[in-house]
Amino acid sequence: MKKTGLGWSDVTPKHLWLNRRAVMAGAGAALLAGPAMAKLTYSPSRFSTTEAPNSLEDITTYNNFYEFGTGKEDPARNAGALTTDPWSITIDGMVEKPGTYDLADILKDQPLEERIYRFRCVEAWSMIVPWIGFELSGLLNRVGVQPSAKYVAFETLVRPEEMVGQQSPILEWPYREGLRLDEAMHPLTILATGLYGEEMPKQNGAPIRLVVPWKYGFKSIKSIVRISLTDQQPQTTWNMLQPSEYGFYSNVNPNVDHPRWSQASERRIGAGLFAGRQDTLMFNGYEEEVASLYAGMDLAVNY
Ligand code: MTE
Repeated sequence: MKKTGLGWSDVTPKHLWLNRRAVMAGAGAALLAGPAMAKLTYSPSRFSTTEAPNSLEDITTYNNFYEFGTGKEDPARNAGALTTDPWSITIDGMVEKPGTYDLADILKDQPLEERIYRFRCVEAWSMIVPWIGFELSGLLNRVGVQPSAKYVAFETLVRPEEMVGQQSPILEWPYREGLRLDEAMHPLTILATGLYGEEMPKQNGAPIRLVVPWKYGFKSIKSIVRISLTDQQPQTTWNMLQPSEYGFYSNVNPNVDHPRWSQASERRIGAGLFAGRQDTLMFNGYEEEVASLYAGMDLAVNY
């Protein structure tokens, strides 16, 4: 599945990945076994924020993952039941090479990188997360997007025996999300297979989840089993449930409030009781990179 004869280690300055490996060897390299961590040679990214990441504990104990319950502590409590290996992803619709691909095979081709991103939930809290992942565009280019495709649709696994939240109709399963094709191809959009240099914790969407840092967190769909290229705007879980509150775009926008609360500010998880709220940034601080995708659009209408 290689596009050139070069491997990732050939195109990454050696000191970067050697340092990284040395650091990780000391920090529990045993945890890196398994298909999601098939490549250990990743480099830091020019797209990373310099803000200090949240603690691993914050990131893994305060979660939204309704397949495992609606409470923030439910995913940490219940997600251990999920079998994540073997894992495959069906890629279908308007692609040149549709199929069901083993995650291990997909990862053989994609250069893993650390991306420290701001993550802003629609509920007006935020975190800084050091993801490990690769650009979604790399995978889409690998399977070949047909010219007629305009959107990418994503689905999460349905397995109520292991996903206790799916035993109730709290949402219409599977959890669904979608992006316009240009959003999906943007270099900031990644598929993440880990965080803090380790395999993805199950409560955060193991073994592979989307991360779209300029959009509210619910767009970042977890435990993906299907990616479909289409010419129709896909249905998305929260929009299906409450269209007046959750639009298709869901770009972080401090100037467009949610009908029931303000989006102008946010609470940084883990900052402490007296830290106060901070201003929410347009496109979550990624305005320079992504504003052009929405040139000429009324963002109060396309929320
Ligand atoms: N993906 C699935 N499959 N199910 C979910 O309930 N919740 C979303 C998103 N992806 C969700 C999901 C929401 S509302 C948020 S804020 C983020 O996951 C939370 O990601 P985190 O738990 O890694 O912080």
